[in-house]
Amino acid sequence: MSEDSQQTTHFGYQEVPEAEKAGMVHGVFSRVASRYDVMNDLMSGGMHRLWKDAMMDWLAPRADQRLLDVAGGTGDVAFRFLKRAAGATAVVCDLTEPMLIEGRKRAEAEQQAERLDWVVGDAMALPFPDASFDVYTISFGIRNVTRIGDALAEAFRVLKPGGRLMVLEFSQIPNAMMQKAYDVYSFNVIPLMGQVVSGDRESYQYLVESIRKFPNQESFAQMIRAAGFGQVKYRNLTMGVAALHSGWKL
Ligand SMILES: C[S@@+](CC[C@H](N)C(=O)[O-])C[C@H]1O[C@@H](n2cnc3c(N)ncnc32)[C@H](O)[C@@H]1O
Repeated sequence: MSEDSQQTTHFGYQEVPEAEKAGMVHGVFSRVASRYDVMNDLMSGGMHRLWKDAMMDWLAPRADQRLLDVAGGTGDVAFRFLKRAAGATAVVCDLTEPMLIEGRKRAEAEQQAERLDWVVGDAMALPFPDASFDVYTISFGIRNVTRIGDALAEAFRVLKPGGRLMVLEFSQIPNAMMQKAYDVYSFNVIPLMGQVVSGDRESYQYLVESIRKFPNQESFAQMIRAAGFGQVKYRNLTMGVAALHSGWKL
């Protein structure tokens, strides 16, 4: 066995061979795809909509821009971007085809299909040329990626000079008491909801564990700087339950 194949990483709280993680993540999102949108509303009490709107407020989409939304799933971020910028276009790229299939159905229902492309691909090896997008977004996706640094390097590569990165991800609540209360909710309620609504407790257990494994706001900002981005800033949402990170390819 090569040295590489023996490397391990986390999949929620489990330690797994690095080479197996993407397949396991693909399994989770293939299982949840048909219920993903409804579960998102239930688990967050609709908060994810406000967080995605806050992402758009900070991003301020422009009509001439081409967006790449990585780990874009069913297209929430891309739809919002296109609604705010009449002439813009977007590509949604995701590892899990069943998530994109759900998104494509929505695009047709919302008559947005012409401005959107749906591409199966891995954030760590994007199937796009260098300097081909004005904006790169990734929302609730990067914590699932095996090597976050590789995904950030790919974001930097595909952005045009002057392009912008924006990441929306669950984060850490700076207040310890509040964090504890939130942990009690997420570890007890979310897997149970998954079981009741989708008959799938395990996938939702992974989702809450993966949130806890993700670096805090400052550490993640450092990773973005290390990938080459400048003007790196973050904003907490709902006291740090989630955070937005912004960076520029200067
Ligand atoms: C929690 S969903 C987020 C979907 C959407 N961005 C949203 O905010 O609602 C996470 C998505 O990340 C995708 N994903 C996980 N690892 C990925 C990777 N390495 N490359 C691309 N997509 C990935 C999953 O397939 C899934 O669709």
